[in-house]
Amino acid sequence: MSIEKSADKINGDFRRKSILSLGQFTPQDIDILFQETPRMQTTVEGQQQLIDLKGQVVSLLFYEPSSRSYGSFASAVQRLGGGIIPVQNPEIVASVAKGETLEDTVRTYECWSDGIIIRTRNPGDAAGAAKTAQFVPVINAGDGIGEHPTQALYDLYTIREKFGRLNDLTGVITGDLLNGRTVHSLLKGLALYQNNAVFLLSPESLRLPPKDITELTNEGLRLVEIDSVDDIPRDTNFWYWTRVQKERFASLHNYEAVKHQFILTPELLRTRGNDNMLLMHPLPRTGEIEAAIDLDPRSVYLRRQMRNGLFVRMALLALVMGK
Ligand code: NCD
Repeated sequence: MSIEKSADKINGDFRRKSILSLGQFTPQDIDILFQETPRMQTTVEGQQQLIDLKGQVVSLLFYEPSSRSYGSFASAVQRLGGGIIPVQNPEIVASVAKGETLEDTVRTYECWSDGIIIRTRNPGDAAGAAKTAQFVPVINAGDGIGEHPTQALYDLYTIREKFGRLNDLTGVITGDLLNGRTVHSLLKGLALYQNNAVFLLSPESLRLPPKDITELTNEGLRLVEIDSVDDIPRDTNFWYWTRVQKERFASLHNYEAVKHQFILTPELLRTRGNDNMLLMHPLPRTGEIEAAIDLDPRSVYLRRQMRNGLFVRMALLALVMGK
């Protein structure tokens, strides 16, 4: 979570800025983005074509697997009238397979595009790519266990859509808090607002690092580590469930031991939930939410949250790259 220092603050002006971390944003910046977002929804739902990115081409360079980030960014660029250079798995299909470095790959795609959206294996790689790129903005679509700022932005949008505010909220975040980059960005986002509290529930070995707890607490976010679902308070605004990040484990045995420690079941919802809450998950889920929850009107992960991902990413692209 240390890449924020190298990233430029937005300070009300998104134009040509690389988007690497939630640490670049103020509440005012997030307001600007969220004011732009409904226009995207209206236009998409009215099946109209936008032209914010007309004549521009964006490279999608994804070194790690992706469904939602890749698909929704590809959709977002094209719905804004731009074109894409789609590169999923550059280690197989591009010159990376021949040993080309990340820097040279970025220099290469920069020659043909007006922006680069990148998912990388290591924290800080997106910031490195932004430094390498001389002419075009870089958007971090997940840098290893670092951050996933655009996911957090649409998580925040989804929360605000429901409660009309981003302050005075209480949430529960469950799962892999050590390796989950969406969690890292979301916590930074919640820390920007007054009077928010988050209950953190994870397997012992996957806790949020103490350094992050200190940083976030210093920023004013109230964090409470709990060990059991029985400690979830009943009056929370949202539950943000996440999967244990299998690909970050050296041993499959260790992964299997913790993967299903916390499962969201109808019974848990009945005993620890309330009527006016949101059930969120960045997806993919791998068994930590029972299918029966999908039908619950409080759950937004399969539709609302993902749809918002498209609209918020469109708005961000229009602000960063639009004319
Ligand atoms: C997340 C990611 O890639 O960090 N996926 C996503 O973009 N929605 C979450 C995950 O993989 O667990």
